[in-house]
Amino acid sequence: MKVTVNNPPAGGDLAKISAECLVCGVWQGDFKNLAAGVDEIVDGAISRFLKKNEKFGKLYDAANFSVSPKKHKSLEKVVLFGLGKKEKLEPLYLRQFAAAVGKVYAKEAKSLALYLPKEAKVGERADLVVIGFSAGVFDPGHRKSEVENGKLKMESLEILTEEDLKKVKDGAEKGLIVSVTVDKVREVVNLPANIVTPEQMVKFAKKIAADKKLKIEVFSEKQVNEMGMGIMASVAKGSEEDLYFVVLRYLGGGSAGKTLALVGKGITFDSGGISIKPSESMEWMKMDMAGAAACLGAMEVIAKLKPKINVVCAVPLTENLPSGKASKPGDVVKGFSGKTVEIVNTDAEGRLVLADALSYVQDKFKPDFIVDVATLTGASIVALGNWASAILGRPQNFIGEVIKTGEDAGERFWQLPLYEEYRDQLKSYIADIANISSVRGGGTETGAKFLEEFVGGKVAWAHLDIAPNAWEENERSYASRGASGIPLLTLVNLALKLAREN
Ligand code: BES
Ligand code: MN
Ligand code: ZN
Repeated sequence: MKVTVNNPPAGGDLAKISAECLVCGVWQGDFKNLAAGVDEIVDGAISRFLKKNEKFGKLYDAANFSVSPKKHKSLEKVVLFGLGKKEKLEPLYLRQFAAAVGKVYAKEAKSLALYLPKEAKVGERADLVVIGFSAGVFDPGHRKSEVENGKLKMESLEILTEEDLKKVKDGAEKGLIVSVTVDKVREVVNLPANIVTPEQMVKFAKKIAADKKLKIEVFSEKQVNEMGMGIMASVAKGSEEDLYFVVLRYLGGGSAGKTLALVGKGITFDSGGISIKPSESMEWMKMDMAGAAACLGAMEVIAKLKPKINVVCAVPLTENLPSGKASKPGDVVKGFSGKTVEIVNTDAEGRLVLADALSYVQDKFKPDFIVDVATLTGASIVALGNWASAILGRPQNFIGEVIKTGEDAGERFWQLPLYEEYRDQLKSYIADIANISSVRGGGTETGAKFLEEFVGGKVAWAHLDIAPNAWEENERSYASRGASGIPLLTLVNLALKLAREN
């Protein structure tokens, strides 16, 4: 997709617009700032409409007006699209507004001009407009032999704004870079587990590394065992597919620079193993590698944007399946750090693969910051619904920084606690720690507490439990069903921010 940025046509002269569709962002109940000239080319239909609909403009409200060919050479319609209340347009809503616009017109037009009023402040956040729009236009590529929708494809977006054009252009350019990768991440998370096997994910990682000249190491299941990562390896035992542990490195900070480690859960299918899941909704569990996919995607974008920081990305890739060879409840395994784990429930497998990945990156790369990203617990969905992902970790200023970075990116994180009492719930009579809590409740917290056992005292660490946001269960006006690509933008922006603070 192509993105251009221009001032709104001076004096309402819309002749310069070459798009098929002009979408004008409208504040709820406040129509003063409507782009000049639009009412005229629809013969006053807009002012007639707004007179009758004084409350128009709620977020995602839309009203279409057709343009006669006599009035404009390219425009077929003008659309008023609600931005909601001025003071409520946080980054999340701007991003979703743009996504809703993209989604409605993806199959209806090849080119679209989007007018955003001044208070939408796109000068600071044009990236969100492009990322949102592009996410809306994204074709999930479902595998039906008959194509349901039209073949039309959105090819260009023209942003019309009164803000500083240079700033908006820079933001839009970054947004495009991010969008290209978000599309790839969504595609790989959407694809079913018979196609996206651990080996396929290795190919995905290798392609990113080769294109962006990143260092890559791929450890086989045999090597993972030989290196002493028995906790990680235990998860793969039931699967016919081999486990792989992939480590990518971006060296932008030099030898004295700080290092950020991204660790992503890459379970290409989670059946639960011997502690098998109920069959209802099990088909979802092809998305259990969304954390790994987002981390790998973030590496691709980071390698393009080149912040002055070192970033290492580690992803364990495997299936969690039952078989005669699978881990059994009660098994005890030993990890890279020497600690032993009692696998009380084989469905708590994400923390198992992450434990050794965390131990490994700390031992080899001595990171200053670690962010792990995982669809770790259903409990995080119980706690937050789909309206925020969970964040846990320490120290508090780092957690605050990640939350703020997420907020600015339109990706929400809500903090949950890591009280010592949660550690008591993980006591094992036979091993150093059990992989699930002995009592009910606090599932997200005990999951994070388990991970903390494998994180050293000095490093700043944030655990993102993205089960609430990695996947849209339902079609929404601003998102299609399936993978969201969250939290790729937060990871990228965090790397940029930490590099600036370096
Ligand atoms: N991958 C799941 C978590 C999950 C559930 C993600 C629903 C997205 C939607 C994870 O491996 C899991 O099975 N967690 C268990 C943990 C429990 C056994 C302590 C869970 O949430 O039930
Ligand atoms: Mn599981
Ligand atoms: Zn899982």
